[in-house]
Amino acid sequence: MSSDTIKVTFLPSGKAIKVSPGVSILESAIAAGLGVKGLCGGKGLCGKCRVKAHYGVEQKISLSELEHLSQEDLDDGMVLACQRKLIADALIEIEPEAINPHRKESLTDAHKLMPVKSAVTKRYLTLPPPSLEDQASDLERIMREVSNGNSLEIGIELLKHLPAILRRSSYRVTAVFLDKSLIGIEEQDTSRDTYGIAFDIGTTTVAGSLVDLNAGRIIATRGATNYQQIFGADVISRIDYSITHENGAGLLQKGAMAAMDEIITGLTRESGITERQIYEAVLVGNTTMIHLFMGLEASFLARSPFVPVFSRALNLSNKDFGLGIHPAGNIHIFPSIAGFVGADTVAVMLATDIQKQPGISLVVDIGTNGEIVLAGKDRILTCSTAAGPAFEGAKILYGMRAVNGAIEGISIDEDVHPDVIGGGSPKGICGSGLIDAVAEMLRVGILDSRGRIADREALIGQVDPKTLDRIQEGKQGREFVLNKSISSSTDKSVMITQKDIRELQLGKGAICAGIRILLGELGLTPREIDRVFLAGAFGNYIKRDSAISIGLFPEIEADRIHPVGNAAGVGASMALASIDVRERATELTRKAEHIELSCRKDFQEEFLNALYFPV
Ligand code: FES
Repeated sequence: MSSDTIKVTFLPSGKAIKVSPGVSILESAIAAGLGVKGLCGGKGLCGKCRVKAHYGVEQKISLSELEHLSQEDLDDGMVLACQRKLIADALIEIEPEAINPHRKESLTDAHKLMPVKSAVTKRYLTLPPPSLEDQASDLERIMREVSNGNSLEIGIELLKHLPAILRRSSYRVTAVFLDKSLIGIEEQDTSRDTYGIAFDIGTTTVAGSLVDLNAGRIIATRGATNYQQIFGADVISRIDYSITHENGAGLLQKGAMAAMDEIITGLTRESGITERQIYEAVLVGNTTMIHLFMGLEASFLARSPFVPVFSRALNLSNKDFGLGIHPAGNIHIFPSIAGFVGADTVAVMLATDIQKQPGISLVVDIGTNGEIVLAGKDRILTCSTAAGPAFEGAKILYGMRAVNGAIEGISIDEDVHPDVIGGGSPKGICGSGLIDAVAEMLRVGILDSRGRIADREALIGQVDPKTLDRIQEGKQGREFVLNKSISSSTDKSVMITQKDIRELQLGKGAICAGIRILLGELGLTPREIDRVFLAGAFGNYIKRDSAISIGLFPEIEADRIHPVGNAAGVGASMALASIDVRERATELTRKAEHIELSCRKDFQEEFLNALYFPV
């Protein structure tokens, strides 16, 4: 190796890359196509980009590390990836996030069979070997069987490998077609092994479902952090990063691809299926995520009139992306409705069959953005609200994804009882836990309708002393400690701050106001809604009563709310299995009307009213 490069190896993947000395751990991980968590674009502010440095990094501890890492962490070799430079050959360990099997990004109907009409088809061929009497070329020999000798679309890579494949398999091969193109010739009969993968690229989390394209069945699902987070928590800050940083768009694309490849690796390991047996990927996600994955100019999405580069469905070759599926596979991009009502919303509409539901149906997909669909009176109205990332645990001091260690629910009686995913001591709180905690704090009087954490002196005699002791004054205002008796010196405190409550109010206020505006357009009241489909990664886990207590929905009865889990992933899987479903997706986008809330004068008033908690 030349003296001006060093080798950095990452665990647990074992991936290694050569970089110049002086590059940060974070930059080298991104260059290696690996994801590191983070929210502040490498500014040292969020403290989330923790990795373990075994050797090869500079020793100077930054102020940011002193703030975010404990002495025990530092002694253990933990560093912040954005703060440390590599100075010699290095070994870096990126801790994988432990996903609780019960809270994987599971789909409610994961094993339901879907109608199949796949774009990928296979045909087993027993070809006559060449002879002096039959000197047809290798390709001609195949074409005679599959297309009556008519020409087929075929790539150069396949032609290069064709002679060896045919001879190794004694001319018993399986032809793989993508629509009318021949994308593969495989040895022996592989016609039972035809798979695809459906991705829902969320701002915070990417979910992937591996689908058997013969059976129309979802085999396995997985989630991963969207590693773009390191460049900003929300879509606007990521668009901003893509514009203002050299190769910003390229880095954002790599961040999404790292999450997708991590999912592919996990799913293929779990199922024993190889990456080359995955011939197609269907992608849904909000419009910004899709643009950033494709490496497209996204700046016009952030500026009025919020125009995307494209909105119709597209079929692109994996040759242009290099995703870890079959190299000549198809990447099908779902159509979208508007700049902020994306392909994920279309997929949710498909999965909930919104067009065929009787009466009035409301779909609320809560992620970093909140997309709302109201269907009834032969119309489909859509809008998007800047829900803020609070529901996904971002911008919350102790916020985290719904993985092991996250508080997912809270009850308060004479004391506070957190419910921790995987059990044990909590490390933070996820969206469902936050909603539950706020609902309970409102119920016992610790929070008022304006969202202020009460002064503990004022509550003496009204609230149990143990609960009262959990209210404390922090650096940034009042806090409520969730996990321990505050006299304990061993457990790490997990708390909700006044700022966290404000973030939640902004998110739930935006969603509630959006619902009211759409209802107004159809001349309806909340009580006329027959059903609410609650989509989104944490829709299955929030307690409906808690969501109503905090005013996430306007005056809707709890039994009308139906969590539908990762409905966007289900819709994408349905479209992966059947090209007819893709047609339906396009029809839905034609029928849907988009209401742009930013130009509605009544939105601000509805929003301000909805910031309060119901009393
Ligand atoms: S502290 Fe490193 S990315 Fe935020």
